[in-house]
Amino acid sequence: MRDAYGMLKPQRMLKPDEGTAGAGAEKLRGGQTQEAGAQGGNAVTEPAERETRSEAAATKADEPSFDRVIAPGATVGVLGGGQLGRMMALAGSAMGYRFVSLDPTQDAPCGQVSPQIVAAYDDIKAARELAQRADVITYEFENVDAGVAALLEEESYVPQGSALLYTTQHRLREKAAIEAAGVPVAPYRKVASLADLKAAAAELGLPAVLKTVTGGYDGKGQAVLRSEDGLEDAFRRLAPERAGAADGGGAVSGAAAGEARSSEDAPLVLEKFVPFRCEISVIAARSPRGEVKSFPPAENIHVNNILHLSIVPARIAEDIQRRAQELAEKLVAGLNAVGLLAVEMFVTEDGELFVNELAPRPHNSGHYTMDACATSQFEQHVRAVCNLPLGETELLTPVVMVNVLGQHLEGAAARFCGDDKEANQLGVIPKLHIYGKTESKTGRKMGHINLLCKDTAAALAWVEHTNLWRN
Ligand SMILES: Nc1ncnc2c1ncn2[C@@H]1O[C@H](COP(=O)(O)OP(=O)(O)O)[C@@H](O)[C@H]1O
Ligand SMILES: [Mg+2]
Repeated sequence: MRDAYGMLKPQRMLKPDEGTAGAGAEKLRGGQTQEAGAQGGNAVTEPAERETRSEAAATKADEPSFDRVIAPGATVGVLGGGQLGRMMALAGSAMGYRFVSLDPTQDAPCGQVSPQIVAAYDDIKAARELAQRADVITYEFENVDAGVAALLEEESYVPQGSALLYTTQHRLREKAAIEAAGVPVAPYRKVASLADLKAAAAELGLPAVLKTVTGGYDGKGQAVLRSEDGLEDAFRRLAPERAGAADGGGAVSGAAAGEARSSEDAPLVLEKFVPFRCEISVIAARSPRGEVKSFPPAENIHVNNILHLSIVPARIAEDIQRRAQELAEKLVAGLNAVGLLAVEMFVTEDGELFVNELAPRPHNSGHYTMDACATSQFEQHVRAVCNLPLGETELLTPVVMVNVLGQHLEGAAARFCGDDKEANQLGVIPKLHIYGKTESKTGRKMGHINLLCKDTAAALAWVEHTNLWRN
């Protein structure tokens, strides 16, 4: 995986003579669409139409990508067709863009509102079809297959590049990049062996949080360590393939020892436990032309490690909010990101900020922007990727976003079919967003509600009174 990425230059820019996505599509034309279509894609686009769209996109065909504007009328290809892709397509369609997504699930959320290529994420042929049908490519998740990322960059226009994906796919690379941008993270040590873990725990002190460097989400792939007794169990659980080699308290042996010399090959990271007052996140955006803007911080409350509420304005002092936005803007600029960068942070009792993790895409904690800000995070993402001027990010009203998980869906939907007395009484305006996922499961994100309010306390009271979020 690393090798394929290693070959890619960070923030690859098209040279003027390399042409545009339109030209790239030209290169690929001549029967390949049909072939890819027959192979599983829903071929819904006529070649003549594609031609027109490519022309629409190639507004500045001779200029390098940092000046290149993708104008409305062009087609945005989205790798991934979940709710983030769907909301991106809904926002972008309103601006006149067309969308095509690639997702393995038939009738995926994004596929319900725009054409979808049904194929596995690592299906090179399908990725080529996406490249061919789109004038610009973006993604809605970060674990993009390296081969596919390389192909898309080669055969289409991916203003986000793959360098930041490579960084954020790995907690150690991510932390190093955050620090290099001059932004603080909680103290951490890489852990390649049980001996490493013991040494790290002694240096950082307990409690501490042990995390796998790749693949973790919603609290999966991590353990809070509170005493030395728990170290070995946690190590064995999170890095089972290293556990054998780690016996005896020494360094790992053989090939594993060789690998572990590079911090990138350590499978785990130990972080000092931050006794935070609250968790917040800031969504920042940057366009290829270098414009940077950020949204107001959301205060995030998790239940069972899944985001439950985002409260905006966050209940922290205004100067901390301002600093949080500055940090996020510093990061998005320092990392040369294009598109959105979601920055999760811890706020300590004395107002210190530590960045926890990054996501180079729209984020659940930014859904509040859809109804409460002058520009939604999805519109901002499309604007950034297409190199339009970024939209204003100001908060128009206090808001609380509450996630609708599988176990909440029926009750939330029923509530929207009748009069909502609590909402009227509390002066809360609930805005329902449902993602159209065909299968509802406990813990699965099925939708969210943005509660517009005069005061976030009223919206929190609504959540309490509805009794829908007791489980
Ligand atoms: N160093 C830490 N100190 C305190 N709490 C932490 C720390 N790291 C993670 N957590 C808690 O665990 C949650 C999930 O961790 P995170 O690194 O964000 O992983 P995920 O990818 O699962 O979101 C965080 O939102 C926070 O509540
Ligand atoms: Mg997180």
